[in-house]
Amino acid sequence: MPHENPSAFFAGTGVGIPDTVLTNADLERRLDTTDEWIRTMTGIRERRIAEPDQAASDLAAAAAEEAMLRAGVVRDDVDMIIVATGTADFIGTATACVVQERLGMTGIPAFDVTASCTGFIYATAVGSQFIATGFCRTIVVIGTEVFTRLMNWEDRATSVLAGDGAGAVVLQPAPAGQGILSICLGADGSGLKHLYIPGGGFRTPVTAANIASRPNTLTMDGQEIFQFAMKMMPRVTEEAIQKAGVQKEEVALVIPHQANIRIIEAAARRLDIPLERFMINIDRYGNTSAASIPIALHEGVETGRIRPGDVIVLTGFGAGLTWGAMVVRWPDHPRGR
Ligand code: ACO
Repeated sequence: MPHENPSAFFAGTGVGIPDTVLTNADLERRLDTTDEWIRTMTGIRERRIAEPDQAASDLAAAAAEEAMLRAGVVRDDVDMIIVATGTADFIGTATACVVQERLGMTGIPAFDVTASCTGFIYATAVGSQFIATGFCRTIVVIGTEVFTRLMNWEDRATSVLAGDGAGAVVLQPAPAGQGILSICLGADGSGLKHLYIPGGGFRTPVTAANIASRPNTLTMDGQEIFQFAMKMMPRVTEEAIQKAGVQKEEVALVIPHQANIRIIEAAARRLDIPLERFMINIDRYGNTSAASIPIALHEGVETGRIRPGDVIVLTGFGAGLTWGAMVVRWPDHPRGR
């Protein structure tokens, strides 16, 4: 086994999903687009959209509460909160601190990890190190986004992709040989310009002079990102499987970042893992960035597609550019249901 120290496992999962559904037909009325184009090119049929007064922390708190309930932990058990988000409540302040206050867990460490759509994998990797060293026994890791708010709703190529939502897990020390078996992470800052928000940070603040060009919305070179994802998602998945010392045939379920059905289908082909063994919910949620993997993970548990003893793979890519994958052996006797 690659880990000498205790590995971490997902003792519980939960989601925070906004009620309002935005269908492709709704978008047809707003934009020069069609349901057919969106479905064929991305696999998306509908997405959820947060209420105007709902922020990433609100969705995150709901997801965390459900994950804690399912893990059978109460707030005094939690040693740390880590949030992955690209749509923080406040610039320069961790959304994890907002969540902590909401959940009444004042005092424990709470911080954010920024790795875009790979954020949940990065955040879980960080949390797992605190479990391995014995620094923490119970960590809440959350991926949460109000991703639709990053969109320029006049840009039909990006705005149709986004959805809002949150997913959370409770990390605890795993029984020997179970839990996280391998982690692979990577980044390539030279590709940052292909997918980023050019303004609104402190390099290029939004000013009266530039606001008309909407610099604080997502800019994407769709083809570049498509090619990058087609290359890196299979590669990092393969690496993580090898590092874990398991065979591809043993992988019961792959939980990929839900960016585009065509990217997932290509990954399945390149990995030679049947598409039926991929968790897919992009049709209902769109791309929820850092939330997409934990939402799909939760659905995998809820629908019984993840069973005790299963080997599963989480894999993703995102802005930065970043990528990451981890292989997890689901415990024989999970508490997380
Ligand atoms: N409706 C109708 N037509 C559209 C739309 C739309 N919503 N968007 C673009 N088009 C048109 C374009 O204008 C273009 O028309 P033209 O040929 O007349 O100029 C045509 O469709 C093709 O456009 P492309 O942008 O070249 O289409 P592409 O094949 O690249 O598909 C897509 C676009 C779906 C966005 C694809 O590039 C993609 O999925 N890329 C990766 C996206 C991604 O994963 N982003 C990550 C977001 S953040 C994250 O998850 C890390």
